[in-house]
Amino acid sequence: RQRLVSGMQPSGDSLHLGNYLGALVNMVKQQDEYDCFYFIPDLHAITVPQEPEELRERTRLTAAQFIAAGIDPERSTLYVQSHVPEHAQLAWVLNCITGFGEASRMTQFKDKAARQGHDAASAGLFTYPMLMAADILLYKPYGVPVGEDQRQHLELARTLAHRFNTRFGETFVVPEALIPPVAAKIYDLQNPTAKMSKSAESPNGLINILDDPKVTAKRIKSAVTDTETVVRFDRETKPGVSNLLTISSTITGQSIDELVASYEGKMYGHLKADVAKVVVDAVAPIKARTEELLRDPAELDRLLAVGAAKAREIAAETLADVYRKVGFLPAM
Ligand code: TYM
Repeated sequence: RQRLVSGMQPSGDSLHLGNYLGALVNMVKQQDEYDCFYFIPDLHAITVPQEPEELRERTRLTAAQFIAAGIDPERSTLYVQSHVPEHAQLAWVLNCITGFGEASRMTQFKDKAARQGHDAASAGLFTYPMLMAADILLYKPYGVPVGEDQRQHLELARTLAHRFNTRFGETFVVPEALIPPVAAKIYDLQNPTAKMSKSAESPNGLINILDDPKVTAKRIKSAVTDTETVVRFDRETKPGVSNLLTISSTITGQSIDELVASYEGKMYGHLKADVAKVVVDAVAPIKARTEELLRDPAELDRLLAVGAAKAREIAAETLADVYRKVGFLPAM
């Protein structure tokens, strides 16, 4: 079977609805068709300051949410990035074939560095995309299921795969970006032209998987819409309503057109109440299962160790090939 690779950062106390609908739902589904490598990028997490004890807890928490959402550690390889040292080792080689200007053009780096101030931003934040390329290329996957915001990083991974192959001989597979057609970008409920993200100014625009259902329902019911009254899909003039329709469509499987038709003559309040119910019903079992899994951290750690061992077998082979090709003297 062909492989897929994807990762999700252990940032925040919970995954949010953007992570879930933009990536995780797709990652779960792909397990039927592909041999999936899913990991928690803790090396990426420390590109911004982290509280050590919190990072450890959140890494486990993210693993629990993966499993609770349907990632099956028996079928898929689930692991923590820092448990597979080859990620950092390949990243170094990729850093050395990436142009300084090329890395400077990554929009996520520019945004984050601007937010933190250029002097406060770490060099790790700058080399982040090359580490991400390493995460992917080590496993020679067919594709990478991610949300729209990762498209540019995926492009860089493709460029670097191709560049390495051209310079040193056929080594990497050039991976496809598997971005879902509908939910590629879930927007902030209070600011529906910005993507839903942990780092938003107000928490009211954010839906966390592990939030209390009452908070979730309240936030959805207070979502910013527009001054019209007609439910229709138009990202330009009706970003708030369109976002709610996207959320509903992704969870229920109904098309946007079907949904729009079903709200003919109805007010925004109807739409919001329905979306609140649909979301709460979708995330409540994930929350319950996550809490259950966290009661046995030793078992979670064991599953992650099994995953890391499986991942290392493949990663070590690719890295050895890369080291040989770039001209490193073999260690005896
Ligand atoms: P991260 O942790 O920010 O996000 C995890 C996944 O969630 C998607 N996502 C969204 N999708 C739709 N709407 C949103 N508002 C939204 N917010 C986040 C992201 O696109 C992503 O798929 N650099 C990556 C982690 C990473 C990775 C990798 C991914 C490291 N190495 C290798 C794939 C392959 C990141 O920070 O995603």
